[in-house]
Amino acid sequence: MSLETFNIICYFWLGIAIAVHVVMFFVTAPFGRHTTTTWGPMVNNKWAWIIMEFPSLAIMSYFLIFGSNSFTGYAWVLFSFWIFHYANRTIIYPIRIKPTEKKMPLVIMLNAILFNLMNAGLNGYFLAELSSPERYGNEWLTAPTTIMGIALFIGGMYINWQSDHILINLRKPGETGYKIPTGFLFKYVSSPNLFGEVLEWTGFAIMAWNLPALTFAVWTFANLVPRAKNHHDWYHEKFEDYPKNRKRIFPYLF
Ligand SMILES: NC(=O)c1ccc[n+]([C@@H]2O[C@H](COP(=O)([O-])OP(=O)(O)OC[C@H]3O[C@@H](n4cnc5c(N)ncnc54)[C@H](OP(=O)(O)O)[C@@H]3O)[C@@H](O)[C@H]2O)c1
Repeated sequence: MSLETFNIICYFWLGIAIAVHVVMFFVTAPFGRHTTTTWGPMVNNKWAWIIMEFPSLAIMSYFLIFGSNSFTGYAWVLFSFWIFHYANRTIIYPIRIKPTEKKMPLVIMLNAILFNLMNAGLNGYFLAELSSPERYGNEWLTAPTTIMGIALFIGGMYINWQSDHILINLRKPGETGYKIPTGFLFKYVSSPNLFGEVLEWTGFAIMAWNLPALTFAVWTFANLVPRAKNHHDWYHEKFEDYPKNRKRIFPYLF
């Protein structure tokens, strides 16, 4: 595929992200605490996470191993960050979440598969086939954007993992309900895990400095900011004593 065709696909996908962002402020994605049985057939929650996140892990691993440029420069560094994140999301995170009766609508799982096929497909193909060895050579490795992006990615990942860890451990064995999370960045926002994820992919876009990475960062923001708002509103509805000064996702801002 030529770079021109590839870029057109990226811009098209970016446009869809912006449209989805707007829609998601009006339609709550029905999984986790917002799950509902009115969206058609339901699937096991843990398996849904594994199945829907697996394409991202598999596609990036494929391009890393078989891509033309994966090892001619340092593109493998970018692949490694992505694969590391998705190894957690596909395998470790679903194993760790507490089992409940709750299920996920099949349509949500299918949407997430499409999301992962597109984002991993675009990013993997660009890094493996459209970038040159010079694009991710020695200069790139020491560029300020690379160092800043790596720091943001690692910081975001730490925030995401630590917050998910706190949330998952709110339930004692056998419990299925919800509690008000406290400590760490929950002091400032209702969804520090989603804040961490937005930081991670913003960092990835800064270090990769290419169109598909930017597209994925926009998609992550588009998905997670409305989801954080939904979580925040839900907490206020459910708990009368929910801390009033907490923001939704960005400390002090929103
Ligand atoms: N890249 C993307 O676009 C994208 C999109 C979606 C999610 N993600 C990532 O996937 C992860 C999960 O996202 P999410 O929105 O589903 O997270 P979430 O609603 O915060 O839930 C995370 C886990 O903690 C449990 N939990 C949450 N709040 C709780 C509370 N107050 N009391 C007891 N248990 C609680 C949830 O149980 P229940 O499932 O029973 O509610 C779930 O197992 C996050 O790390 C997020 O960043 C990424």
